[in-house]
Amino acid sequence: MGSHSVKSVLQGTADPEVEVRGWVKSRRTSRGGFSFIAINDGSCFADLQVVADQALANYDEIVEIGAGCAVVVAGTVAESPGKGQDREVQASEVRIVGGVEDPETYPIAKKRHTFEYLRTVAHLRPRTNTFGAIARVRNTIAQAVHSYFDANGFVWVNTPIITASDCEGAGELFRVTTMDTNTTGQGQETRSAAGGASAGGPRGGSPPLEQKGFFGRDTFLTVSGQLNVEPYCLAMSKVYTFGPTFRAENSNTSRHLAEFWMIEPEIAFADLADLADLAEDFLKSIFSEVLRRHPDDMAFFRDRIDASVIERLENVVESEFLRLDYGEAVDILKASGEGFEFPVEWGRDLQSEHERFLTEQHAGGPVVVVNYPKDIKAFYMRANDDGRTVAAMDVLVPGVGEIIGGSQREERLDALDARMTDAVKEELWWYRDLRRYGSVPHAGFGLGLERLVLYVTGMDNIRDAIPYPRVPNNASF
Ligand code: 4AD
Ligand code: MG
Repeated sequence: MGSHSVKSVLQGTADPEVEVRGWVKSRRTSRGGFSFIAINDGSCFADLQVVADQALANYDEIVEIGAGCAVVVAGTVAESPGKGQDREVQASEVRIVGGVEDPETYPIAKKRHTFEYLRTVAHLRPRTNTFGAIARVRNTIAQAVHSYFDANGFVWVNTPIITASDCEGAGELFRVTTMDTNTTGQGQETRSAAGGASAGGPRGGSPPLEQKGFFGRDTFLTVSGQLNVEPYCLAMSKVYTFGPTFRAENSNTSRHLAEFWMIEPEIAFADLADLADLAEDFLKSIFSEVLRRHPDDMAFFRDRIDASVIERLENVVESEFLRLDYGEAVDILKASGEGFEFPVEWGRDLQSEHERFLTEQHAGGPVVVVNYPKDIKAFYMRANDDGRTVAAMDVLVPGVGEIIGGSQREERLDALDARMTDAVKEELWWYRDLRRYGSVPHAGFGLGLERLVLYVTGMDNIRDAIPYPRVPNNASF
């Protein structure tokens, strides 16, 4: 008799005798002198019902078991006469491995809690139905990302977390330093190994190298792996990076995190239309995989979080994404007659109210908006012949807004130089080099994993789409 997951017991393992380990969701005593214990081990949405008979030697102890206790149960699998499950385990032994100090104050005792409250107990929320389901779905998305790319000939490239450049040019950088920043901006090395620097001078100007800390230069947490993945694209043809990214944007919204995971494919000998095709095929494959692997978790999201969540994904898998030129999108918004808070005008970025209108009202599904004004987009995006737009692409979805941002890259050195300052040219000499040695049209996008989790689960706040959210004024746990 080996140990079994709750999932394997419920799915009908052939072993008549099993050992199951997990955490108690609830326990109740029935009139006939039994205890019913619901156990979950994270392997699936459903709990396993364990029936403990009063004849068990430690029955006195069993009736004290409450939510949160860790137990190991041995017993026989039987057809369950009760409603709600096909199988149950009739216990021959119930061993308490970890008790709960005070059942009265167990922070997630069985009742409904608000998501706001559960964020304050992020160490215990994975034991709830909702956060167990999110963790499983998030895992399947991540696995499906790797499977999709692997099956389609992409190479996973691990780009650095510590970087010297601001890929997006938005200046939302977290500085990486060993300097003691408590010394009122004077900058003091806290580790002697760090470049041999002692006390640094005041900020400003360009201090000598040894005063610039560990790396001998300013360094930051990456906002995107794109610039580092492009060189691999121009050697391996189809690549992607998938890792944590960091943005110090002070937007305290339900769509922004300071630390989030980004999936960034990059394809060579490809243009913007090829990229939009990739994005669409890729998203559909992820949605299909979640629907296939998680009927129970998705049914829970449908019943408790968002009634349309399954139907929405099924429709998306079967339909074609609407593709709109930015200019067309602006015309549609202007003609909508909606009283938007932010004005709609050619040359301005689309706000989330505009994105929501396009996806929810106009298209009733995902929309790919292409060819944005060049002045609102990053320097690396390829200039279109009209002189005023770039080959940029955003994928927008109902409820969430932008989940993908990408572009065809500027592969012509002169055109790239025209969009770089001298300082950036010096900094990114190696990025320019790629345009000197075997440059080809190429394109890539970034997909925010947490925004994708929101869309797939119907959850509302991005802080619930990642185990430990980092947002302004909050980095607990
Ligand atoms: O549109 P963004 O800024 O694009 C880039 O970073 C490109 N360098 C990607 C590329 O072409 N390889 O970000 C891409 C996606 C957004 O569409 C969004 O889903 C997500 O990353 N994202 C965030 N997710 C959570 N919190 C934030 N603060 C985010 N900022 C961007
Ligand atoms: Mg973007």
